[in-house]
Amino acid sequence: MYTCGVDVGSVSTEAVILCRDNKDSNAKGRIVSYVIIPTGASSKDAALKAFEEACMKASVSKEDVYSIVATGYGRINIPFANKNITEISCHARGVLNYFSGIKTVIDIGGQDSKVIKLDGFGSPVDFLMNDKCAAGTGRFLEVMARALEIKLEHFGEIFTKTNEKVDISSTCTVFAESEVVSLIGQGIDKNKIIRGLVYSIVNKVISMVERIGLEEPVCMTGGVAKNLAVVKALEEKLGVKINIPEEPEITGALGAAYLAK
Ligand SMILES: Nc1ncnc2c1ncn2[C@@H]1O[C@H](COP(=O)(O)OP(=O)(O)O)[C@@H](O)[C@H]1O
Ligand SMILES: [Mg+2]
Repeated sequence: MYTCGVDVGSVSTEAVILCRDNKDSNAKGRIVSYVIIPTGASSKDAALKAFEEACMKASVSKEDVYSIVATGYGRINIPFANKNITEISCHARGVLNYFSGIKTVIDIGGQDSKVIKLDGFGSPVDFLMNDKCAAGTGRFLEVMARALEIKLEHFGEIFTKTNEKVDISSTCTVFAESEVVSLIGQGIDKNKIIRGLVYSIVNKVISMVERIGLEEPVCMTGGVAKNLAVVKALEEKLGVKINIPEEPEITGALGAAYLAK
């Protein structure tokens, strides 16, 4: 039996097809395919495209997918989904597939960041979310990467290039971008600017972690978990090891596919 989870985010939409032995949501399933595509202007179209592509990749016909759960900010308006479930529950369930006993999930996506406290068995007990401001999210890093003309994928390398950082004083994304442009104009080493930007986002996330209370083991999900500079800075400041799923960006969709009954 196949189930599907679709996570419609502000930046990317993911679909995961799971092969399940039975209808028990706790049973371990097998990921038969997944896709990650840009969401673009229509979350409805992106959701359908991701679902169809994931079916194609898995060589499964759409009719063979028994149940579909939508999650993410665009989850409400997905006509082909049987149900929609919050990202909090889906990320909580998704991390269970990779690690057991996780107590804290840090999820940084394109437009929001969340810290979820779990009971250690995949159920959320508390969470905090910042969805009011782009600072502290993947979008902040995207804007800065563009200004610096550096690929986000290369941010991780800065930790081998410099130990120094330039503090970014603006908390707002728009003002921080102007600050970065002005720093580049002054000829400041880009690696130092990136380090400053990484600590700026990390400090915002840490203030949420402190409010909710840090409990190990810790896992990070969402696209920003692929940014090694952010992960390293978080580990250093929190003083803990952070577990990263093989493909952190699909965690929400994977959890949704598990919760599809
Ligand atoms: N390969 C990568 N390296 C570094 N950062 C990445 C990479 N892929 C995605 N990201 C980051 O992930 C963010 C999108 O995360 P995602 O969880 O997909 O958000 P959403 O749920 O809003 O779609 C981007 O804004 C970007 O900062
Ligand atoms: Mg996404």
